[in-house]
Amino acid sequence: MAQIIDGKAVSAAVKQEVAEETAKLKEEKGIKIGLAVVIVGNNPASRVYVNNKKKACEAVGFQSFEYALDENTTQEQLLDLITVLNRDDRVNGILVQLPLPAHIDEKKVIDAISPDKDVDAFHAINVGKIMIGKYAFLPCTPAGVMRLIESTGTEISGKQCVVIGRSNIVGKPMAMLLLHKSGTVTICHSRTQNLKEICLGADILVVAVGKANFVTGDMIKEGAVVIDVGMNRLENGKLCGDVEFESAEKKASYITPVPGGVGPMTIAMLMKNTLTAAKQQAGIE
Ligand code: GUN
Repeated sequence: MAQIIDGKAVSAAVKQEVAEETAKLKEEKGIKIGLAVVIVGNNPASRVYVNNKKKACEAVGFQSFEYALDENTTQEQLLDLITVLNRDDRVNGILVQLPLPAHIDEKKVIDAISPDKDVDAFHAINVGKIMIGKYAFLPCTPAGVMRLIESTGTEISGKQCVVIGRSNIVGKPMAMLLLHKSGTVTICHSRTQNLKEICLGADILVVAVGKANFVTGDMIKEGAVVIDVGMNRLENGKLCGDVEFESAEKKASYITPVPGGVGPMTIAMLMKNTLTAAKQQAGIE
């Protein structure tokens, strides 16, 4: 039976580290840290995420500046706001909650954020830095996953690591971070043949496909570390991950639950990135 990885506890530890450093910066150097959170439209899931991000800011001692814009906001209006935030010294990090309404080009919006304030690490400059391995901002979800794997004491170097999913936000940067730790990384996706066979070879399996219960226990190697990035809502209203927990926990050595696994980590890493941004802007790091 697997040990459950407690994402809430690891996330609390990260936030505690950030809070301590934030207090110290304020006391010793008079630095106040601020995060701008921009949301466009009324997507209920986005609203929940944004509220949680604001709460986390408060908990670690950051100021948060919310910009809740109407669904009909034009791309130009949004780009104008980003220009203002790029120049605002109170704002160390800018987060534009995705997805944006269909009439707005997400790429244009991400490109407009100053790479120094891009705490999601979505800007092409930051993505490129991650590829090279010399980066300030870690992409929040993959960085959270790395921290969870570390919390188990599992050595990544030389291990077979399988990532299912190839999104720009999770799958691709996830594979890169595992590679930087000298994992032997395979990226699987919807066209992958022999998926089960490949998964059965995985010492570390990270699943980010967005399909409820996609990975089942029979696809998991005995003793594997299984990280479930999925967050799906079933018809009965229950939340579930991309991994069928009941069968998977019989095979894995460590496994993340949903909710309470990767989810809380993403926000904690966002706080960490905002702290890093503030330090860099102050010339400290
Ligand atoms: N939408 C879903 N995940 C994310 C994220 O990590 N950052 C932003 N900005 N939007 C998201």
